[in-house]
Amino acid sequence: MNYKIPRGTYDIMPKDSARWQHVIDTFRRVAQRFGYEEITTPIFEMAGLFERSSGESSDVVQKEMYRFEDQKGRTFALRPEGTAGVVRAYVEKSLDRLGGRSKFYYIGPMFRYDRPQAGRYRQFYQYGIEFIGSNHPYYDAEVIALEMQFLAELGLKNVSLEINSVGCAQCSLTYDEALRAYYQPHLAELCPDCQNRFEVRPRRLLDCKVAFCQSLRKDAPSQLDYLDQDCKEHFAEVQNYLDQMGVTYRVNPSIVRGLDYYTNTAFELIVESLGAQNSIAGGGRYNGLISQLGGKDTPAVGFAGGFERLLLALEKEGIAGYEPINPTIYVIGIGDETRLMALEYITKLRQDGIYVDYNPDKSSFKAQMKAADASKARYALIIGEDELGSKLPTLKDLESSQQRSVDYRQLLDILQ
Ligand code: HAM
Repeated sequence: MNYKIPRGTYDIMPKDSARWQHVIDTFRRVAQRFGYEEITTPIFEMAGLFERSSGESSDVVQKEMYRFEDQKGRTFALRPEGTAGVVRAYVEKSLDRLGGRSKFYYIGPMFRYDRPQAGRYRQFYQYGIEFIGSNHPYYDAEVIALEMQFLAELGLKNVSLEINSVGCAQCSLTYDEALRAYYQPHLAELCPDCQNRFEVRPRRLLDCKVAFCQSLRKDAPSQLDYLDQDCKEHFAEVQNYLDQMGVTYRVNPSIVRGLDYYTNTAFELIVESLGAQNSIAGGGRYNGLISQLGGKDTPAVGFAGGFERLLLALEKEGIAGYEPINPTIYVIGIGDETRLMALEYITKLRQDGIYVDYNPDKSSFKAQMKAADASKARYALIIGEDELGSKLPTLKDLESSQQRSVDYRQLLDILQ
């Protein structure tokens, strides 16, 4: 075949869909229980929206965005993440002027051009939560607790929560200066990317994968020593709430998020066994983003998780997910003249909510019986010459092999 799936993408085939659906259903259920409502935004937006929100110097904007021009020469981008679109919608619908709380969840594909590897794709799926409208530390803890509850309901065990505070915009400036002072003597030896990071976003130096740059990290100043009083208190309160909600975590001052909009709380969920791509979810507070995108200054906090990494983690723990759904009944018609009666039953049963399977390609009774067994249906409905005469089909229980004549009412009662 001349056509291949694009690199870094994959098909979710029907055999995998049940697992996906189970994870999605669980997320929806938990999000709703915490009072979050679904929002769906376009998968492409003006490229400037992401440049402004993720940060011009972020990897996402510098290297990973799928940009394209439309027929009128406007530059759009496939969304690399969900937060910017949600905030754009929030501001565009003037929810910032109404005040109050907005609680959103979303599920959908995101796009990043990066080197594909296990757990890293060019089209991947995120589930996410955005709480907009309060700086109360309770909400930082609430979104984290929601994620932990979701993972617990899926049965995932080996996952650790790491939290940090990156401070407010003012704390960040002081910290950036401290980092520059620390790295200055080594500037010439840093990798070219880090030399650039040194100027524009020094904290990204902490996240570099090059051995020499990494070796400097352990003695680098910690963000936590550069928090002002308010930011310190906020972080302490978040931890109090987590403690009181029974959420276990570890403070890790070297958590650096890849996107620029974070203020104060930043967190990641790590599954060590996943190797290089071990972050299954991440997020934090972004108090400056709404005003930066033209809305009224409004605090917010949220996170997103990657479905692929989550499914890999579940697989590693032997959690298979959902069993595929089998038909309740398989309809067998023996001979052409039974077709009308068979179709009548098939149609009525489906209208009454029963999962019915039928395969007109199989003609002999034997072939149809075999197909009924293979379908894993619990019952077979057999319509032959006798059944046509009595107008009563035969219901066969494929587990016990017992069979009896039934009218439609009796049949439906049994199946329901
Ligand atoms: P992020 O850390 O860039 O944050 O992505 C969140 C999660 O998406 C990651 O932890 C990972 O599981 C998954 N992910 C990211 N890139 C890929 C990829 N190429 N392939 C597979 N999975 C991937 C955000 O996107 C923020 N919008 C989160 C947020 C929401 N912060 C506040 N609100």
